[in-house]
Amino acid sequence: MGRIAYVNGRYVHGRDATVNVEDRGYQFADGVYEVCEIRDGALIDMTRHLDRLDRSLRELEIRWPMDRDALQIVLGEVARRNRVHDGLVYVQVTRGVARRDHVFPSADTQPAVVVTAKSTDPQVFANKAKEGVAVITVPENRWDRVDIKSIGLLPNVLARQKAKEAGAAEAWFVDRDGMVTEGGATNAWIVTPDGKLVTRPAETGILRGITRTVALEVAEAHDLQIEERAFTPDEAKSAREAFMTSATSMVMPIVRIDGVSIGNGHPGITTMALRDSFYDKAEKTLL
Ligand code: PDD
Repeated sequence: MGRIAYVNGRYVHGRDATVNVEDRGYQFADGVYEVCEIRDGALIDMTRHLDRLDRSLRELEIRWPMDRDALQIVLGEVARRNRVHDGLVYVQVTRGVARRDHVFPSADTQPAVVVTAKSTDPQVFANKAKEGVAVITVPENRWDRVDIKSIGLLPNVLARQKAKEAGAAEAWFVDRDGMVTEGGATNAWIVTPDGKLVTRPAETGILRGITRTVALEVAEAHDLQIEERAFTPDEAKSAREAFMTSATSMVMPIVRIDGVSIGNGHPGITTMALRDSFYDKAEKTLL
């Protein structure tokens, strides 16, 4: 986290950036979040991130903590105050502070909002993309509302920890039908031996990633053949290419799945083409 955070109406130093112990986010994971990339001094796809935040809030019947326009200003302001030129801005909204009781608190309970930002080194990601990363597969054990960007991320935490212990960057969840859903914090893609781009439809089993949406637009602009359908780990292991998408990794090539080398073991051409022209299609809001 950077030095300055926005907490319920105030910009505060990190050490003062605290929330109430009865915040329902802390006690019930009763909240939602967004992570938006900052690239070269601009917020990437902020409109879509705020649209998705709106949807998550509506699905959980949590009110907006403030005007959308005001929140947009806060995102930029937190990034600016932390001098983030390249990095991430994080926004979390919870149902607010109330005496512990599972049912919703009274309707006048003010939702709680926190915004933080941190710098990242684009060169580190570029170097990673040159090498490609490894993923493992794990059984899907999340609830069926993964379309909501909820802060309840325990299965994702455990999956990613398992990946780390296996020397991998991500874990792909595999559902009861034996199909890959998505990663712990990324969407999953393959390129078939005959060059088709495959990613699971966003209707069930996955979060509709913003990076996924933009990557589909980039793929269309490149006249690539796209199949939105589920795939198995076995199909992925014999694919020509594999990659993952997220605000934190953009388009990241995958070169190993469960220890099996993908394609020629190096980042794929299609993957790198999508990566290279991603920002042509992404929306940029200057800080
Ligand atoms: N994760 N699927 C899951 C489960 C995610 O948590 C994310 C994002 C994605 C990709 O969505 P997007 O392209 O909009 O970032 C898919 C964020 C980055 C995180 O939790 O850090």
